[in-house]
Amino acid sequence: MIIDGKQIAQHLKEEMREQVAALSAQYGRKPCLDVIIVGENPASMSYVRSKIKATEYCGFDGELIQLPETVSQEELLRIIGERNENDHVDGILVQLPLPKHIDEQAVIEAISPEKDVDGFHPTNVAKLWLDQKTIVPCTPMGVMALLEQSGTPLQGRHAVVVGRSNIVGKPVAKLLLDKNCTVTIAHSRTADLAATCREADILVVAVGRPQMITADMVKPGATVIDVGINRIADGRLVGDVDYESVAPIAGAITPVPGGVGPMTITMLMRNTIECYKQRINK
Ligand code: GUN
Repeated sequence: MIIDGKQIAQHLKEEMREQVAALSAQYGRKPCLDVIIVGENPASMSYVRSKIKATEYCGFDGELIQLPETVSQEELLRIIGERNENDHVDGILVQLPLPKHIDEQAVIEAISPEKDVDGFHPTNVAKLWLDQKTIVPCTPMGVMALLEQSGTPLQGRHAVVVGRSNIVGKPVAKLLLDKNCTVTIAHSRTADLAATCREADILVVAVGRPQMITADMVKPGATVIDVGINRIADGRLVGDVDYESVAPIAGAITPVPGGVGPMTITMLMRNTIECYKQRINK
């Protein structure tokens, strides 16, 4: 079974578009997401374009703020501060990674937790781990939505997450734990990665290494969620999973592109609506 993230994402976006129309009529203003990009990294530019397109589709207000690679940290923080103060803005997203001269953590912490649609602010990360209601990072939420849509049972089963980033690996492990999975976080120093992966009923891979998970690392029938998006030498986009060899033995698998990617963007729309509703109700 191929888990069609593109189709699932489209369906959810259609629902949100209707919800946004109703909310905008009720409250007299649209949800507003401001997206900030620094520099011209082609992958980042492409992601940001997709995000803006989705906001337009869903009927949001918003602004794309494009800053030169050379912008100072001070100036970036000033722009974020301005958006924090602007009552019209519900969500602020700064596309990562940032140039080396800018302290990424300082930027994340400058965004008001109420407008932190990425769920990266330490306040929101802490709330996630303390089981408090909060903004949950988009990609992990997209992974969980795909697992749900694929009908994969979670309770009591072994989930192996490969990768321990703050953006994906760690939060997705927490969300799987919340669904009563037994969770292993594997990474580059895991002694026998193949053996660990083979124990997974649910295998979530977010390492950023093209096609590193091969068929011998996957239990027959497992659900495989591939978070990786890598452009390889011949220009193709591939995941962290070797799709050709793994698909025949997996019970269900996400393709790249068209798997997790579209869901991340859809969950960003959902988070923006959540921030909007929280702020309306204050
Ligand atoms: N770069 C890669 N993934 C993400 C994400 O989810 N949010 C932001 N802001 N930057 C990213």
